[in-house]
Amino acid sequence: MLELEKMDLHIDSLMELIKKYQSEISSGRVLPEASRSEMERIIFEEMPTAGKAPEAVIGEFAEKIIPNSTKVGSARFLSWIITSPSQAGILGEMANIGLSQAPFLFKAGPAATVIEDMAIGWISSLFDFPKESGGILVSGGSVSTLTALGAAREAMFPGITENGMHSIEKPPVLYTSKKAHASIDKAVGALGFGKKMLRKIAVDAEYRIDANELEESILKDIQEGLRPFCIIAQAGTSVAGAVDDIQKLSEIAKKYSLWLHVDGAYGGGAIITAKGRELLRGIQEADSISVDPHKWLFIPPEAGCVLLRNKKHLYNAYRMGQDEYNPDTPVEFVNYGIQSTRMSRAIKIWFAFKIYGINTLSATIEKNMELAKAFYEGLEGVKGLYRLNNPMTSAVCFSFEGGQEENESFLRYIEDKFFVSPAVLGGKHCIRACFSNYRTKVEHVEELLELVRKFKGIY
Ligand SMILES: Cc1ncc(COP(=O)(O)O)c(C=O)c1O
Repeated sequence: MLELEKMDLHIDSLMELIKKYQSEISSGRVLPEASRSEMERIIFEEMPTAGKAPEAVIGEFAEKIIPNSTKVGSARFLSWIITSPSQAGILGEMANIGLSQAPFLFKAGPAATVIEDMAIGWISSLFDFPKESGGILVSGGSVSTLTALGAAREAMFPGITENGMHSIEKPPVLYTSKKAHASIDKAVGALGFGKKMLRKIAVDAEYRIDANELEESILKDIQEGLRPFCIIAQAGTSVAGAVDDIQKLSEIAKKYSLWLHVDGAYGGGAIITAKGRELLRGIQEADSISVDPHKWLFIPPEAGCVLLRNKKHLYNAYRMGQDEYNPDTPVEFVNYGIQSTRMSRAIKIWFAFKIYGINTLSATIEKNMELAKAFYEGLEGVKGLYRLNNPMTSAVCFSFEGGQEENESFLRYIEDKFFVSPAVLGGKHCIRACFSNYRTKVEHVEELLELVRKFKGIY
């Protein structure tokens, strides 16, 4: 009854639309012009009781949905940290949806389970993790950190998953920098530690955690009878793209027997470049890492990855049954994370890594970093603005001297050409251009710089 006649033709006509969308992605506005209420007028309707012809629905998709979508893949999308989904990744996702596997159990997605196991192994090896390491693909950085901290909690307080937070004597404390992403607060809250038990440590001039203040804070908490438990290092803060001194943090973690988690949701992908390896020095010492293939590895969303130095900690926190961990038992992903039914996020990674090879992805990330540098340098000497960070990764923050009002006026001035977002850094309103799209070229950087100069000229 749910079978569609002419399914092959519908696939073809949908693919025609996707081909056109892809080929025109960098032309025209990045953000749709319609306001939210206009869009609601266009899209809202009563719940369909009787169905209509697939041709008609595909027609509506072309007319109402495509033009009201953000062109994340555009060369002119320089916002947040959503990278352009690579074309090989898109092919992989289309293939994935066609197969619709559910690799929570091997039998619900045999090849998908094996591919995920292999992809996790590939990513672990990028971070020089040992052979006991492992992990799972999740929706993104937020769930990755939540999953890792749940595993850390069980590893550091064995039995807590069973017995609850009240079973531990001293309240656990976590530490991260003031520049950490809000998903860390959410994870700490959801796991029952209490957001107040997450210490937000000050940063230096480069927005990296102040290691001295961190150590002082740990000592103070020990003196007060609390139980310092975990440091969450930043490998690419959301706004400035700053990377903490992970080596130093790993030394502190070892000194006080703390778990070290690295939030590399954004910057972790840079591990495949020489500069990234240098920036992320020490990451191989972490107990767990979040890295988002849907950020700086150009995989279409959703694709997050959580890696554990020893995957038994994931198992101990998330296993379904009572069986003790056995490193020789092949992985069933239902035992390594929160989800039961889950999509395959590995097939698109498999497509992208195989079609491009790591070298091409590495060259793309290097190019992104060069463009960020070029934009930063191009802003030098432009009167009436100042730069807030020298980019370590791919984000450049600057502000006009008129502050928020002038910044917003500039964003409106460029909105039909570029999508760049406002942000706040060091308490100051700023404009943040993030160069993490593979389609963005030097000429786009020059065009944006030209717009900055013109804006100042006509202002
Ligand atoms: C540093 C950092 N961590 C975590 C996240 C959350 O990742 P996600 O949006 O994939 O859940 C983000 C998102 O931008 C981020 O920049």
